[in-house]
Amino acid sequence: MDSPEEPGACLLHFADEASSAGRLAAATGLRPLAIERHRFPDGEIKLRLPVDAAGRLPRRAVLLRSLHQPNEKLIELLLAAETARALGVQSLALVAPYLAYMRQDIAFQPGEAVSQRIVGPFLGRLFDAVVTVDPHLHRIARLDEAIPGRACAVVSGAPLLADWIAAQREAPLLLGPDAESAQWVAQAAARHVFEYAVCSKTRHGDRQVAVTLPDVFLRGRSVVLLDDVASTGHTLIEATRLLRAAGAASVDVAVTHALLADADLAALHAAGVGAFWSTDCVPHPSNCVYVAQTLGRALGELSW
Ligand code: R5P
Repeated sequence: MDSPEEPGACLLHFADEASSAGRLAAATGLRPLAIERHRFPDGEIKLRLPVDAAGRLPRRAVLLRSLHQPNEKLIELLLAAETARALGVQSLALVAPYLAYMRQDIAFQPGEAVSQRIVGPFLGRLFDAVVTVDPHLHRIARLDEAIPGRACAVVSGAPLLADWIAAQREAPLLLGPDAESAQWVAQAAARHVFEYAVCSKTRHGDRQVAVTLPDVFLRGRSVVLLDDVASTGHTLIEATRLLRAAGAASVDVAVTHALLADADLAALHAAGVGAFWSTDCVPHPSNCVYVAQTLGRALGELSW
């Protein structure tokens, strides 16, 4: 099997993810090379790839791009991957710690685009392999069902978040804010023998959610809400309000993907959240858990 760590294999990245790229390069032995990006006044993007003196790139390359704020980044991926191939890359892997457009996996209303079935194959046409963290897959079990015919690896932020929580809080109650979070909460709880439970949630709109707490004793408990994604933060806000009203001594939050804006984070704290912790899958001021080692291992184990 080819190894991504073969001499000369490189890690292509963009300037805004230089820190994550440095950590992934250290974990894998890949040589980090930055892609130059220019944005024209009309919004078009121009990329320049880091070629050698002969104007070429190595035979094997990994592109790191986390796909939060994804629309422009999908164009970046198209330009970068096609250019990399033209410049000599034969094997190209994408490491996207956050993988966007996986949530819309069926048409809920007639006429809706099923984004997962469009964006997944699009990535499959550009890359030989895709590595990501906790993608939001509801109705399929495996990422290669969304990206057919490609080597795919999925790793989880939950064990890393669990280790962080164990170092911060004594005997916390882990709480998942909705049924989908059960997989991550159960995994994290098992690792440190934490007690856990799961809420139920009904979504009425982007920022309108109703949460029902599980039937567990909450008064005086140190609760940590754990989820894959905080987007607007409203799921967590609703859960926190209820937990505070039920007498929880503290409510902290740990998420894999912190997509939320500053104002949403402030609203979370105003609702009663103490600490807000996240992995560095999405660069965010709350990052405190680093996924590079886990991503590097997954990449090394993949055949591509
Ligand atoms: C949904 O199932 C996810 O796990 C999150 O709970 C959801 O994306 C959070 O969204 P928001 O922060 O906007 O409530």
